Amino acid sequence: MNMKYIIANWKSNKNKGQVVRWLEEFESDHFSEMIKEDREIIIAPAMPSIAVVAEHLNDQSKHPRTALAVQDISPFSAGSYTGAVSVVNLEGFGVQYAILGHSERRDHFGESDQDVANKVSQCVEAGITPIVCIDEDYLISQASAIDDKFLSKCIVAYEPLSAIGTGEEMNPEKVVLVGQEIKQYFDGARFIYGGSVDPGNVSDYLEICDGVLVGGASLKVEEFKRLI
Ligand code: PGA
Repeated sequence: MNMKYIIANWKSNKNKGQVVRWLEEFESDHFSEMIKEDREIIIAPAMPSIAVVAEHLNDQSKHPRTALAVQDISPFSAGSYTGAVSVVNLEGFGVQYAILGHSERRDHFGESDQDVANKVSQCVEAGITPIVCIDEDYLISQASAIDDKFLSKCIVAYEPLSAIGTGEEMNPEKVVLVGQEIKQYFDGARFIYGGSVDPGNVSDYLEICDGVLVGGASLKVEEFKRLI
């Protein structure tokens, strides 16, 4: 089955109460049972809410096709790295995916291609699937920094800067072209799109790639359910 990923990236939004209310509302009306078999819904909360989301998702009878992601990870393993969250810290929470190298991390936290590459290694070795965000400007430098043997293990998200949080989604024909280019450098990787995806345009993207990374439209649970 050709799985389609629908990823909710909440960024630094939501306190604990808001996370619980979102999850309860998500679970209402037996919604999970209506999700198509070839969809995987991935929720990426801020780090302090990982445990809350994990607890809800652990009841697989309610969430047969919903998985947990983090929005970042330390480039180092466990050790003396104050403030960092390593793959070891995540053991036991059922984290299956990690969003890596989002442009907001590159811009605001100075993350380099090599940092992202180190994070990819940490994740793959811990059995976590990396979702590597790229824009065309750093596609080649990012792919070159990643260990060759890990390239096919990545899900690559084409995230054009012009489309993130702007309401100006990228033309699907352009997404197809960039997808072909990505596949030249990330041989065997799956390819998704992110940038102003909403309930009105999501089907255009699901037709041409393996999934979508959703920011703004994942924050309100009703809108996210409509999108799914
Ligand atoms: P957006 O964010 O859906 O709000 O444009 C996408 C992203 O940052 O991945």
